[in-house]
Amino acid sequence: MIKPYKNSYKSKKEQVAFMFDNISSKYDFLNHLFSFGIDKIWRNKLINLLRKNNHKIVLDLATGTGDLAIKISKLKVKKIIGIDISKGMLNFAEKKIKNKNLENIISFELGDAEKIKFENNYFDAITIAFGVRNFENLEIGLQEMFRVLKKNGKVFILEFSKAKKFPVKQIYNFYFSKIIPFLGKKISKDNSAYDYLYSSVEVFPEGNKFLEKLNDVGFKNCKQISLNFGIASIYVAEKF
Ligand SMILES: C[S@@+](CC[C@H](N)C(=O)[O-])C[C@H]1O[C@@H](n2cnc3c(N)ncnc32)[C@H](O)[C@@H]1O
Repeated sequence: MIKPYKNSYKSKKEQVAFMFDNISSKYDFLNHLFSFGIDKIWRNKLINLLRKNNHKIVLDLATGTGDLAIKISKLKVKKIIGIDISKGMLNFAEKKIKNKNLENIISFELGDAEKIKFENNYFDAITIAFGVRNFENLEIGLQEMFRVLKKNGKVFILEFSKAKKFPVKQIYNFYFSKIIPFLGKKISKDNSAYDYLYSSVEVFPEGNKFLEKLNDVGFKNCKQISLNFGIASIYVAEKF
């Protein structure tokens, strides 16, 4: 299992929470910088898919600094609940919704996506952007999503995947394994976070493997939408 800090004996979950606490003040800036703003376009694609259905209560897992939850609030939804294990990330999310007067529609909670504190069949839709890769136990996380989703509900999962074709694959690998870790260390002052980003994408079971995992926990109509030469994907799946 890939963990952020090689010399630590703590669990992956503890290390991930610590790491995101540590980089939370630089997270948004570095995200947009390293992706040249494309991460915003990817979140918008997810929003456009979500828009097609009428969802009342939406759960945004691994909500981080809340950007996806805030975008969802522009749709016709009643309530959005964002959950994250990093208090540091949530503090920034809280500030944003306060400034935007969105506290009546969005609420954030410190919580674990692998142990969701909501009853079965509660949410109309579940979203998660760049979160599943960080789970300690991916299968348990997916089972939990299935459990708390209502019948006929959908999950929308945005995650990095690997470019397969020359020259995008080579450029992407160099950029992700060398440039981002170098700049990430300098700017975030966390020596491991951006090495972990590359390694965690490398080992993540993307594409058909991920679709199989969704199927295994009971989701139906599982599909992958490939973005920008395959460097990211949105997975959509339904609960019948
Ligand atoms: C790369 S950030 C993504 C944040 C946000 N969704 C976005 O699109 O910018 C990953 C987030 O997942 C959170 N996370 C990782 N494992 C988690 C878990 N088991 N439960 C809840 N949040 C988790 C981290 O704390 C972090 O804020």
